[in-house]
Amino acid sequence: MFQLDESQIQEYQNDKPEYYRQLALQLDALLAEDSNWITNMAQMSAFIFQMLPDLNWSGFYLVNPEKSESLILGPYQGKVACVHIPFGRGVCGAAAATLETQLVEDVHQFEGHIACDAASQSEVVIPVVVDGDLKGVLDIDSPNTNRFDQQDADGLTLLLNTFIKQTQF
Ligand code: SME
Repeated sequence: MFQLDESQIQEYQNDKPEYYRQLALQLDALLAEDSNWITNMAQMSAFIFQMLPDLNWSGFYLVNPEKSESLILGPYQGKVACVHIPFGRGVCGAAAATLETQLVEDVHQFEGHIACDAASQSEVVIPVVVDGDLKGVLDIDSPNTNRFDQQDADGLTLLLNTFIKQTQF
């Protein structure tokens, strides 16, 4: 279950919006079992990591309740990562500070990028906003330059909204 095979990679490449719609249905069923936010962040990170090709990191940074204007590492899949990221630093910090999705073709061209995993070449970071409150960011990294396009950003936003709907914070 939830394994990426050649035919799915083909489907993804042929019609990304449809592929993400199918993923959203699967994710909705997967997260229906419980609304615990740690559980669902862990499942969501693993689900994205398993179901999309060419990723090296997938997960959450959370607004740190003990340090203002700062993110702290949350549930994820991938190599060990930076623990603290101030708002405004790097791609995750930019998403938290601006509340806007960051779609970065080449992280080496991004001012202040934080290289947690040297393999990361491109990334997309989406703010997690629930009832008007910033809870953290969803960070997806790839070892390929220019791995993500607007369809990925939109599809990942659909997955994030599915997660928010199924989760109690
Ligand atoms: N590259 C990110 C840092 C987090 S890691 O990639 C997991 C950034 O600049 O925000």
